Amino acid sequence: MSTPTPVQTKAAKLDVERLRQDFPILRQEIAGKPLAYLDNAASVQKPEAVIQAVERCYREYYANIHRGVHALSQRSTEAYEAARAKVADFLGAEQPAENVFVRGTTEAINLVAQSFVRPRLKPGDEILITGMEHHSNIVPWQLLRDETGAQLNVVPLQADGTVRLEDFEARLNERTRFVSVVHVSNALGTVNPVKEMIRLAHERGVPVLVDGAQAVPHMGVDVRDLDADFYCFSGHKLYGPTGIGVLYGRMEHLKGMRPYQGGGDMIRYVTFEKTDFAEVPQKFEAGTPNIVGTIGLGAAIDYLQQVGLDAIAAHEADLLDYATRQLSALEGVRIYGTAPEKAAVVSFTMDQAHPHDIGTILDMNGVAIRAGHHCAQPVMDFYGVAATARASFGLYNTHAEVDALVAALDKVRELFG
Ligand code: ALA
Repeated sequence: MSTPTPVQTKAAKLDVERLRQDFPILRQEIAGKPLAYLDNAASVQKPEAVIQAVERCYREYYANIHRGVHALSQRSTEAYEAARAKVADFLGAEQPAENVFVRGTTEAINLVAQSFVRPRLKPGDEILITGMEHHSNIVPWQLLRDETGAQLNVVPLQADGTVRLEDFEARLNERTRFVSVVHVSNALGTVNPVKEMIRLAHERGVPVLVDGAQAVPHMGVDVRDLDADFYCFSGHKLYGPTGIGVLYGRMEHLKGMRPYQGGGDMIRYVTFEKTDFAEVPQKFEAGTPNIVGTIGLGAAIDYLQQVGLDAIAAHEADLLDYATRQLSALEGVRIYGTAPEKAAVVSFTMDQAHPHDIGTILDMNGVAIRAGHHCAQPVMDFYGVAATARASFGLYNTHAEVDALVAALDKVRELFG
């Protein structure tokens, strides 16, 4: 198995050129140009260490888990549960069992909505979210609203793409039963002051879920320091496989929650009359889980911890600053989201061309970005646009790739201007 090239100390500068060697997919040309992959907020590419962990499992020790007495099943079970311990360490959870494996952030939020929040709601109660949420942190609450007669309360967005803490606090009231807030906005890059938000909610006895999908790849997160009740993320944005994610929940909450789905592996004993459920976390992991995805996620966490999240954060902050300055200097370009605390996302439009045309021309120049509403249509509505173009960065991106983006945008202007 290959190990990540450099072992960085936390303060070290990333050796990006060496790190890029860990990502085989980056060694290719698109349309005859070197690939500049700047669509990392949608999904991140995978290092050899993850690819090989997945392959090794299938080649050497794959079997179903928690069920077999045979050697392969025991090895797979050990690797699966070792990944849970890695997640616990990565998030600063008190114990591995507080980390439930799910398909991704979306499933985690739906699980909490249905199993934790729903039984607590009566008509007129409120769930508090912000104006910058991804659809996955809006629609599950709308479904609950329609089922229970509860209401959604939304903290308004400001022009710079932030929400004000005083607006958040003003919306916490005696009807608020739950807060669900994004840590880092996928459409704008805004980093929310979630620790402060959690403190304000807890002062009023209100539990909080944090959607950390866009936070964990870019910064160190400690769920106990944040005092989060629930925290969730997706593996595929964390340099891990698709189809795997994590719901962290405080043990006292998880213990009191009904299962989300019923089936095999989440039971202790079943008769036709009744079922005794398994303990947390198995109670929430019905059916054969994504065994290999989980093991791949464990490898991704090992990789990131060896590279060092502080060094990644510093590198991406530098890239964001460089890209923001370069794009701001281009005539007709407008950037959405100018929060003082921002992660590695630049959302923009050009007077001359529609975001989808920008995306297409960029692709013809080897530059991969996302164009669209980014599953955050209320954010687009707030700014009065249907879509933006979005460049988003990961640990392997370079200034040269930002230069390639800028050069390709010049071509867009030549074509459409
Ligand atoms: N939520 C992902 C994005 O922001 C898919 O692109």
